[in-house]
Amino acid sequence: MDFTILHFDSIDSTNTEAINQAKKGAPEGLCVVARQQTAGRGRQGRVWISEKDAGLYFSLVLRPKIEIKFLPLLTLMSAVAVSEVLREVYKLEPDIKWVNDVLSNEKKICGILAEMTETGKGLAVIIGIGINLKSSNFPVEIAEIAISIEAETGQTPDVKELLESLTKNLDKYYKILSGENGAAKIRRAWAENSSYFSGKMVCVRLENETIFGETGGLEENGALRIKQESGEIKIVQAGDVTNLRKAASN
Ligand code: BTN
Repeated sequence: MDFTILHFDSIDSTNTEAINQAKKGAPEGLCVVARQQTAGRGRQGRVWISEKDAGLYFSLVLRPKIEIKFLPLLTLMSAVAVSEVLREVYKLEPDIKWVNDVLSNEKKICGILAEMTETGKGLAVIIGIGINLKSSNFPVEIAEIAISIEAETGQTPDVKELLESLTKNLDKYYKILSGENGAAKIRRAWAENSSYFSGKMVCVRLENETIFGETGGLEENGALRIKQESGEIKIVQAGDVTNLRKAASN
């Protein structure tokens, strides 16, 4: 994939800009990067606090040719790509919390928001990635659950180097997903990078209920299987997962 990067000093949301660019016909590989977002968006309508230079705010336009049922794997693929960068470049020991949070020492270091949009050239998927570079200005409630590359390594990361490794890895895993047996390969890579794949006691907040149970692997589209105490298996397509062991020790 050829990457073209549009840099902004300040923008509402790089995902919104990438959606607009895709609607105007932007090709796959267009990236939007900003030093600050004034209306950064997280999953489930949440706000993504995006102070100047405190994070990498990045969105990539994709025009995937994979089967529609496998589109959710684009999120898993992106989390794997980020994890590998954090491990190889910054020597961290990241863990992916289903479905797309990348953690370091059980605190969130990266969030991913994938959004789909119809365009004149067909369906586009925007992969929005926020990586915490510095922790200094985290509000108190965020400081307890989030961490940054700077706090973990003692060094301020070089944004250009981070961007290069990130785009290289996104390209690598996107090629794998788009190739032969790509879906299975991405599920395997995700499993290797996540302690949440199986045997983890979790609480999952769904739209209308909260369930408890043990993780029991992924469905073919990346949905998470939860074995409830009753023996019933619930397939979770979207929801917020919390590690129960950690919650209990708090
Ligand atoms: C989450 O964990 O809730 C997802 C957070 C995604 C944040 C990134 S920052 C770059 C891109 N632009 C946005 O408005 N959101 C994503």
